[in-house]
Amino acid sequence: MRPVRIAPSLLSADFARLGEEVRNVVAAGADIIHFDVMDNHYVPNLTIGPMVCAAIRPHTTAPIDVHLMVRPVDRIIPDFAKAGANIISFHPEASDHVDRTLALIRDHGCRAGLVLNPATPLHVLDHVMERLDLILLMSVNPGFGGQSFIPETLRKLRLVRERIDASGRDIWLEVDGGVKADNIAGIARAGADTFVAGSAIFGQADYHDVIGRMRAAVAAG
Ligand code: DX5
Ligand code: ZN
Repeated sequence: MRPVRIAPSLLSADFARLGEEVRNVVAAGADIIHFDVMDNHYVPNLTIGPMVCAAIRPHTTAPIDVHLMVRPVDRIIPDFAKAGANIISFHPEASDHVDRTLALIRDHGCRAGLVLNPATPLHVLDHVMERLDLILLMSVNPGFGGQSFIPETLRKLRLVRERIDASGRDIWLEVDGGVKADNIAGIARAGADTFVAGSAIFGQADYHDVIGRMRAAVAAG
């Protein structure tokens, strides 16, 4: 059985009460905190940075999964490592030197990930599998929460799952965008093991209930 990691995206949390939101969602069964960083340049939205990461760090021991939607990437990586990030992923289009950026993330003691937009081809993975701890497939175009899951992602997930299995390495396969209790089972069957969900979790009154329903849906296959 593949692991199932639920990663609530803080993008849909109450920004006026972030520490409490983090504590509550972890108490409700979340495995990882997904932290969306947008720069109003690489994506048309502006969110949170290393200072906010440092501010939530004392509120949980769960890994903080920083999803960088910023360009350029390299300058901000040490700041996130210092702020307590455990995983840092970025979009290959946002770095001039993808291999170097991946190495930089690991050099700062974090797990390294690449994020593929819906239209980004898989060949960006070709020569960097050794450098990867995580592959994140976007199932919406990045920039906003609350969008609908793009069905083509399922085919892409199956192809990436094959590549990971063939590599023999323990690379997490994460999916981000439009994940809900009613579509998570198909996403898991396609090969994902780490599930980002923003509006589906923080949009509900009972986080424990929705995370439980997500796990039950995956378990039922
Ligand atoms: C979108 C972000 C996502 C977003 C997902 O650019 O990367 O993490 O918060 O939100 P939902 O789950 O609402 O689609
Ligand atoms: Zn994200």
